[in-house]
Amino acid sequence: MCGIIGYTGRSQALPVLIQGIRLLSYRGYDSAGVSVWRDGELRVRKDKGRIEELAPRWDPEELAGTTGVGHTRWATHGAPSQPNAHPQAGGAGEVALVHNGIVENDLALREELEAEGVRFSSETDTEVLAHLYARAFRGDPVAAARELLRRGRGAFAVAVQHRSLPDTLVAVRRGSPLLVGLGVRENLVASDLRALVGRADRVLVLGEDEIAVVRPESVEVYDAAGRALEPTARPMAGIEQDLGKGGHAHYMLKEMHEQPERLYELLAGRLDLARGRLRLDDLPLSDREWRGLSRVDLVGCGTAYHACWYGARFLEVAAGMPARAVMAHEYERGSVPLGPDVLVVAVSQSGETMDTKLAVEAARAGQARTLGVLNQRESVIGRLVEGVFDMHAGLEVGVASTKAYTSMLAALLILGLRACGARQPDAGRMTELADALRALPDHVRTALARGAEAQAVARDIHRASTMLYLGRGLDAPTALEGALKMKEISYIHAEGYPAGEMKHGPIALVSKEVPVVALATQGPWRDRMLANVREVRARDGEVILVANDGDAEAGRLADFVLRVPATHPWVAPLLNVVPLQLLAYETAKRRGCDIDQPRNLAKTVTVQ
Ligand code: M6R
Repeated sequence: MCGIIGYTGRSQALPVLIQGIRLLSYRGYDSAGVSVWRDGELRVRKDKGRIEELAPRWDPEELAGTTGVGHTRWATHGAPSQPNAHPQAGGAGEVALVHNGIVENDLALREELEAEGVRFSSETDTEVLAHLYARAFRGDPVAAARELLRRGRGAFAVAVQHRSLPDTLVAVRRGSPLLVGLGVRENLVASDLRALVGRADRVLVLGEDEIAVVRPESVEVYDAAGRALEPTARPMAGIEQDLGKGGHAHYMLKEMHEQPERLYELLAGRLDLARGRLRLDDLPLSDREWRGLSRVDLVGCGTAYHACWYGARFLEVAAGMPARAVMAHEYERGSVPLGPDVLVVAVSQSGETMDTKLAVEAARAGQARTLGVLNQRESVIGRLVEGVFDMHAGLEVGVASTKAYTSMLAALLILGLRACGARQPDAGRMTELADALRALPDHVRTALARGAEAQAVARDIHRASTMLYLGRGLDAPTALEGALKMKEISYIHAEGYPAGEMKHGPIALVSKEVPVVALATQGPWRDRMLANVREVRARDGEVILVANDGDAEAGRLADFVLRVPATHPWVAPLLNVVPLQLLAYETAKRRGCDIDQPRNLAKTVTVQ
């Protein structure tokens, strides 16, 4: 994902910017660049590639200067290329601007600026902001920054410098995170705390729609109306120790809370949410090839397998595409009928899981087409498959996978829409889904804010020794994923089932001592789910229901309700898993378990 670093002070800016880019690299990127003020001009160097290849080409003499910005870009609007890399120039080069996030109304703004005679040199949404800033600038950086907030829609974090202000950086934040690092006679701007380590003593977290004017010996902060604010900086020392956890008690909690932003970036990067158009040009398989497939096999393990299950159901329901999820270790070379008309999608957070790697090798040996849905493009599996859908979920440290799971679902949903587009396009449905996906990050944020509901349930169930999780249709894998989270980190035995399976055996387990978690939000499956819940109640079972806001009937049936906002049934699994993650977390906390490193488990399983 994109990263921002900016520096103004007494030292040479270039080495600080290069170091910042290195520290931001873990987020994943495909191009990088810097701009440094020197002799009345903004000198920009940028290109696609890794910082290790680019930095040696940036001459410290030519780029000598003490104020500049740097950026790592992960392509969304336009391919990785020199013109599309940041910084983007505004006006006639008097502005250099770097940007994280997505400007949703970029096309309208671009048309407007073009009509006024502005010539664009990249395909990026960022360049729109650079030109807007240049046109609004009349010597007052705050006024120009306010224009970005007034005109731009979406989520964006920006650092910008103007040729006429040699030692000044301006930071603007809407939606995407942005920090100001305070040092001794030097100050920095960064999108990530990591990039400030070793340089800043204190840190200021910019609030929503705030603007910072950063100079070597001063930082001023303003709101969108231009009123001066007096925010409090926090000492870096305390934060540094906690750097990885971002102020949360555990990595798992931090990673759950990253989901809204990760989902937004993944979805908006791959789908033009305003027009419902997909951006998947980097993936193999033309429309004709998608139409020629006889089957899609999705392979993965653990959480990734649950994502495969969702992906397979979605391909069938939405695109009419025969598809199945297979646990990667069951996908043995020679035992699966394969050929060039079969697509094998390997799903893996690490890209290193041995079982999944072997499944990909089996697919290749059988002449099948291959794709990876991965969080690490440069991984063993990434190097084996024909194409990689890079989830860019960021580093996941907690052994219990959370943000990688919702990112997998989002990626598979996008792939499903790709198949729909090739096999049975339906513009109306695309618009409906794009609307639901646009609202998803906020819905996830709402679900995360309801930790108190999960705490109340955890108080009640934390002494249980067995639990059941039930879901139907696209939420059957959500039930399995909820159960896996619970058993992994709290060590309570928990089983997930498609609810229809209940009467075929598991119902024998139902008693007062066995809490049953049931997912009952999705339109077509809700009523049947509630019927299953009544069967559990009739046997004295305790019911914890994941239900939509305002669903009074669900509320009456359950002992506890974990509420989520209503959404499109195809999108619901990306949201419904959130209260189950919280429930597992709160239960494990009550039981005093080692949440981030549960016993016997490794984050990456590189053996069979
Ligand atoms: O790196 P992968 O996604 O290939 O890992 C697969 C599983 O080992 C992993 O999802 C595991 O089930 C997690 N601990 C689940 O939280």
